[in-house]
Amino acid sequence: MDLIVTHQAADFDALASLVAAKKLYPGSKLMIPGSPEKAVGQFLSFCGDVIKIEKEKECNISNVTRLIIVDTRLASRIGKASQLLLKKIPILVYDHHPPAAQDIKATAGKSERLGATTTLLVSYLAKKKIDISPIEATIMALGIYEDTGALTYLSTTKKDIDAVSFLFSKGANLKIISSYLNRRLNPAQTSILIRFLNSAKSYNFIDKRVIIAAISSNKYIQDLALLTHKLRDTEGCDAIFCLVELPDKIQMVARSDCVDIDVGAAAVKLGGGGHNLASSGIIRDLTLKQVEERILELLSRQVKAEVSLAERIVSREPDRVEGEIVKPLLKKDLAKKLKKTLPQHTLGILEITGRIADKDNIQAFAVGGFVRDLILGVKNLDVDIVIEGDIRKFAKKLARELNGALVLHKKFKTATIVMNDKSKVDVATSRTERYHKPAALPEVKASRIREDLQRRDFTINTMAVKLNRREFGELLDFFDAQRDLKRGRIRVLHKMSFVEDPTRIFRAVRFESRYNFEIDKYTENLIKTAVSDDMFTKVSGERLREEIVLILKEPRPLKALKRMAELHELRFIHPVINFNHKLLRGLERSEEILVWYRITFARKHIESWLVYFLALIDQLDLKRTEELLKRFPFRRKEQDIIRATKKMDTLVFLALSKRKAMRPSQIYRLLSHLSKETILAIMAKAPRLIVRRRVSDYLTKFLHVKIKIKGEDLKKEGFKPGPDFSRILEKVLYARLDGHLKTRSDELRFVRRLKKPKSTVT
Ligand code: CTP
Repeated sequence: MDLIVTHQAADFDALASLVAAKKLYPGSKLMIPGSPEKAVGQFLSFCGDVIKIEKEKECNISNVTRLIIVDTRLASRIGKASQLLLKKIPILVYDHHPPAAQDIKATAGKSERLGATTTLLVSYLAKKKIDISPIEATIMALGIYEDTGALTYLSTTKKDIDAVSFLFSKGANLKIISSYLNRRLNPAQTSILIRFLNSAKSYNFIDKRVIIAAISSNKYIQDLALLTHKLRDTEGCDAIFCLVELPDKIQMVARSDCVDIDVGAAAVKLGGGGHNLASSGIIRDLTLKQVEERILELLSRQVKAEVSLAERIVSREPDRVEGEIVKPLLKKDLAKKLKKTLPQHTLGILEITGRIADKDNIQAFAVGGFVRDLILGVKNLDVDIVIEGDIRKFAKKLARELNGALVLHKKFKTATIVMNDKSKVDVATSRTERYHKPAALPEVKASRIREDLQRRDFTINTMAVKLNRREFGELLDFFDAQRDLKRGRIRVLHKMSFVEDPTRIFRAVRFESRYNFEIDKYTENLIKTAVSDDMFTKVSGERLREEIVLILKEPRPLKALKRMAELHELRFIHPVINFNHKLLRGLERSEEILVWYRITFARKHIESWLVYFLALIDQLDLKRTEELLKRFPFRRKEQDIIRATKKMDTLVFLALSKRKAMRPSQIYRLLSHLSKETILAIMAKAPRLIVRRRVSDYLTKFLHVKIKIKGEDLKKEGFKPGPDFSRILEKVLYARLDGHLKTRSDELRFVRRLKKPKSTVT
C-alpha cells in the first residue's frame, strides 16, 4: 500500500500537497505526523469528509510498500514514517525546499525551487489532465497562496501563478481561501504577539535588519507561523526568528523577505527544516541563549561579513565592557557603508553636496543623528548637512541641483530644502551659539566644524562625515562618540547642556529607550539638578509639546515615559498627574490596542501618539484638561479630539460596559461620531472584555456596512429634499446594521413604510 506523508506542524502547503499527491497516486493513505498548524486543524474539522487523513498514532505503517513524501526532505520531520526509510521500498519525494546534506535519498519524485510544493504537484495533475473538484482546487490554491504570501513573496515563480490560475479555472473558491488567509488574531494570540514584540531584539547584517524574538511558554504555540508573519509585518524587518522556550525544547519559526538571509539554511543547522524564506523546527539540547547565538553566528557567516561594531550595538543588550578600546572606523569603511546602506536618492544628495562644496572650495559634512544612525545601522533618511561657508549661496546651488524648494532661516543661518517626494535636507553653517539667558534661542556666529559639534547635546550626536569628493566618507569623531555608541551611553558634552536647552532632558530619555542605552551617572545628575531648578518652566509650551509628541511617537514609548516619571518629569504636563499603577496599566493597554489596531487595519493611519497621550491625561478632568490645552498649543483637530474624549469617554465607556445585549445600531450610534483615537482610548480604558469586543465589532464590521439607496432614490419615492434626507438614510442604515434589511428592495420597502406618517417626511 502507498503512504503519503508530509511534515510535522503541517501548513496549508503541506495539506494541499497531500491532497494533490493523492490525485496522482489514488488509493494511497495520507498521514500528518504530530499535530497540524491550528488553522489547518480547523479546516480539516470542516472538510474531514472530503479529505481522509490518518493521525500518526492510528496509522498502521507495517503494510506500506511505497512511501511518498511531500513538502519536506528531512527524515526528522516525518514522524514515525521515518522508520520506513530503513525498509527496501521505493521512496518518492516532492518538495520545493533547497537541498541539504541531511536530505532523504529518494528513488524518484522531483524537487524544484518553487513558491509552494503544491505547484509542483498541480503541474503534474494539469499535464496528466487529472480531474480536480472545486473543493480540491480550493485547498490546492490555498496551499500556494499561503506559502507565497498570496503570490507576493520573493520566492513566487511564474509556475506558481500559472498553477493558481489553472486552479481557479477548476473552481477554486477565493472566498474560502481569503477567510483562511486573512485570519485575525484572537485576544490570546494578540497577547502572545505583544510578548514577542517586547522581547524583540534587532540586529543589522550590513543593510538587512533581522529580529530575534523569544518568549517562554508552558505549552507548544499552535499558530506560531501566523504570529511570526504578523510580527514581521509589524516590525517591517527583513527577516525574523520567533523562538519559544518550552519546558524541554525550543520551538522556532523563521521568515525572511530577502534572498540574502536564508532562514532555511539556518534552521537546518539547528535541526529544523524549510526553505530560504520560511522555516521552522524543534530544537533540543540547546538553551535559548545558545540558540540565539547560533542564529547570529549562522547569519553572520551567510552574509559573509562579521557582525560589525554597529551591528552589535543595535542589539537591545548593548555590550558594555569597561575600558575596552574601540578602534576608530576607517574612512574607507564608512564610504563603503554609505554606498551600501543608503538608498540611491540619499547617497546622491551627499555626493552632490560634496561636489558643490569642492567647486566653492569649502568643506561639507553630514552630521548629527544621521551619522549616529548610519553607524548604528538604523534607517534614517533625514540628512543634516553642515558647511564651512556662506549658507545662502550654498543652499541656493544645492536646491537647484536637487530640484527642491528652498526655505532660508536667516536668523539661525540654516536652510531647509524640500524635495518633490517631501523628503528634506537641512543645511547649516558651522557655527557657535551663545545663549543670552537659560533656555533662550541661540545667537549664531560663524565658526568651524569642531566647535559646531561641541555645542551639540550628547556625544553620540557629535560625529561628522566628510562629503568632499577626495575625503568622502571620512569620519570625524572628536568626543569619543563611537566609544559611547558601543557602550550604549548617553553623555552630555558639558555641564551647562540642560541649562542651555532643557528639552535635551526629553531627548536623553528618548535616545535611552530607543536604543536601549543608558544615561550616564554624571548626565543623570545634571538632569536631576535641572529638574529641581524647575528648568521646564523656562521652556515654551510649544517646544514642550513637540518633545512629548516625539516621545509618544517612538515605536515603544512606555519605557521612556516610565523613565520620565522616575525623573519626576511628568509634572510638567500637569502637576496633578500621578504616575501610579492604574496609569501605567492604561498605557500598557494602549500599547496592546495599538498593536492590535496596526495588525488588523494595516493601512489605516492613526495618530498613535494621541492615544497614548489620552491615557496619560486620564486623571485630568475637563477643567484641568482646558488648562493643559492653554499651556500646550495643540493643533485644532488634536484639541477637538482631546476635548471630545474628555466629554464622552466615561459616558460611552459605561454604556458599552452594560451586560445587556446591545443592537449593532446602538453601538454604532455611540461610536460613529468619535475619532478613531478616542475610540481606541476608550478601548484602552476598559479592562472589560465586553467593551473591547463591542468596539472591535464596530471597527471591523459595523463601520463598513453601507446602504444601497441614495438621496436620488428618496426623491423618486416622493420625499422632498431637505434635512430629513440624512435622517431617513440613517434609519435605513440602522435597520440594515440590525439585520432587518438585506437588499436594495428591502431598503426601498422600508422607506416607503416610513412615508406613511405624513407629517415627518412630505
Ligand atoms: N541637537 C542638539 N540639541 C537639541 C536638539 C538637537 O544638540 N535640543 C543637535 C543634535 O546634535 C542632533 C542634531 O541637532 O543630532 C539634529 O537634531 P534632530 O534632527 O532633532 O535630532 P536627531 O539627533 O536626528 O534625532 P531624531 O533621530 O530623533 O530625529
